[in-house]
Amino acid sequence: MATKNYQTVKVEKEDGIAWMILNRPEKRNAMNPQLHYDALDALNEIATDKESHVLVLTGAGNSWCAGQDLKEYFRALENNPAERRKAGWASQEWRWRLLFTYPKPTIAMVNGFCFGGAFTPLIACDFAIAAEDALFGLSEINWGIFPGGLVSRVLADALSYRDAMYYIMTGDPFDGKKAAEMRLINYAVPKEKLREETVKLAQKLMEKNPATLRAAKEVYKLCRNMDYVQAEDYMMAKGNALRAADPEKGREEGIKQFIDDKTYRPGLGPYKRKKA
Ligand code: ACO
Repeated sequence: MATKNYQTVKVEKEDGIAWMILNRPEKRNAMNPQLHYDALDALNEIATDKESHVLVLTGAGNSWCAGQDLKEYFRALENNPAERRKAGWASQEWRWRLLFTYPKPTIAMVNGFCFGGAFTPLIACDFAIAAEDALFGLSEINWGIFPGGLVSRVLADALSYRDAMYYIMTGDPFDGKKAAEMRLINYAVPKEKLREETVKLAQKLMEKNPATLRAAKEVYKLCRNMDYVQAEDYMMAKGNALRAADPEKGREEGIKQFIDDKTYRPGLGPYKRKKA
């Protein structure tokens, strides 16, 4: 089911999954200012949509995202500092700040080209699955810049030092299989299985308590940059907040189904969620 119309992004909702599709296939889904504004609006729409439980970010045609639009994002805004600032803010906002701690699980489904600035949303997503023949590249070096925005910073979280330095400095493209081998993505699958495997992962996530999933990802992602004292205190407070705010009362229900009802094994799968 398609929803609100955006110029450069398409949103389709089906069986609890919101598919956000970057939609400039004729430009390989390069990110122009309009795409940044649309992506920001669409992500905010999906964040509060009660029917959408998992977000999948993908691209139309044979590309996931060819990075920033060299013509419309870089060259056209060189003498337009006001628009440059607005587009730059929207670009960072949706690709990193919003996606990194998005209130729902996020999966990057990389169907084709993934270059430069596309690495930011790729790494911000909780999961990434790619077609084996998808083509990745830190191509910045090839046209006279370094991986900026936040790309070099987020690469430090997602790749080893040697792999990051190699690809930042050579700009060599690599395929989905290599991306999986380097753990930049979770796994690579043949292109014809990409959607099916993505749906399978989304369904697995939808069996879990959504409030707990949200807290779990926030805690892991935010604790990475805290010291031990801060992390311990933050996790204690977050755990209490989750217990108080979780509409499903997951912790109590999980213990009850294991200890009293003996209906499941927490070590082997999730407790049975009541249908809303
Ligand atoms: N910015 C602007 N336009 C782009 C971009 C981009 N990043 N990527 C593709 N396009 C446009 C092309 O200019 C072309 O437009 P036109 O038909 O009006 O001439 C159209 O998309 C198709 O591109 P082709 O190059 O013809 O497509 P092909 O399938 O042969 O190659 C590829 C695809 C490999 C992605 C190639 O287009 C490419 O190298 N693009 C640039 C990738 C890149 O370096 N991105 C920037 C990273 S740096 C950053 O994001 C900060």
